[in-house]
Amino acid sequence: MTNGYLLSFEGPDGAGKTTVLERLLPLLREKVSQPILVTREPGGVQISERIRDVILDVNHTQMDSKTELLLYIAARRQHWVEKVAPALDEGCLVLMDRFIDSSVVYQGAGRGLDKAAIAWLNDYATDKRKPDLTLYFDVPSEVGLERINQNASREVNRLDLEALELHQKVRNGYLALAESESDRIVTIDATKPLDEVVKEAYDTVLRFLEKAVL
Ligand code: TYD
Repeated sequence: MTNGYLLSFEGPDGAGKTTVLERLLPLLREKVSQPILVTREPGGVQISERIRDVILDVNHTQMDSKTELLLYIAARRQHWVEKVAPALDEGCLVLMDRFIDSSVVYQGAGRGLDKAAIAWLNDYATDKRKPDLTLYFDVPSEVGLERINQNASREVNRLDLEALELHQKVRNGYLALAESESDRIVTIDATKPLDEVVKEAYDTVLRFLEKAVL
């Protein structure tokens, strides 16, 4: 049986990672024989999608930061047990639109919650499994927010409505994390044209897979 690999896609809001993932998927399906599962956090299974609705509801302005963290962790756990871990056991290449690093960066760097607590909760939710590779799509906060505002079809969520300051903390958090975990996290400049970003993401995934199967 082939190995399952866990690849996460991370970035500030408006970095375009979801669009890149959509474009990347057919290219990878053509090239890779392994089954591919694409899924997202928060969400991915019914219970976690319902938790997502609670977290992102624009009316929930009174939500406490620790409540928010615990809800993301609860959504992660259910998604992990029901969908991601079984897919890895079956040898899938799993592409995750956001994962543990989003909690480290949004709730840690962004909201200022205790980093050790977040690390522990992430481990608890995923039985200590980390991504094998993380693609970090980097854009300055102003560019990300501008893209969100331009995209009329995108659902606006509670996080999108937060101040620029939070988004800047998030971006700085990602940059620091990418530096400290450079063996796992590859940074891609997402201000480039979409075709170039997709190509870079594709090359990065293939390089990883070639190395992994050697
Ligand atoms: P979503 O609409 O999926 O945004 P995007 O398309 O940018 O991924 O909304 C997810 C939001 O939840 C996004 O603002 C990031 C945030 N988030 C956290 O704050 N912590 C987390 O652990 C996760 C998974 C997401």
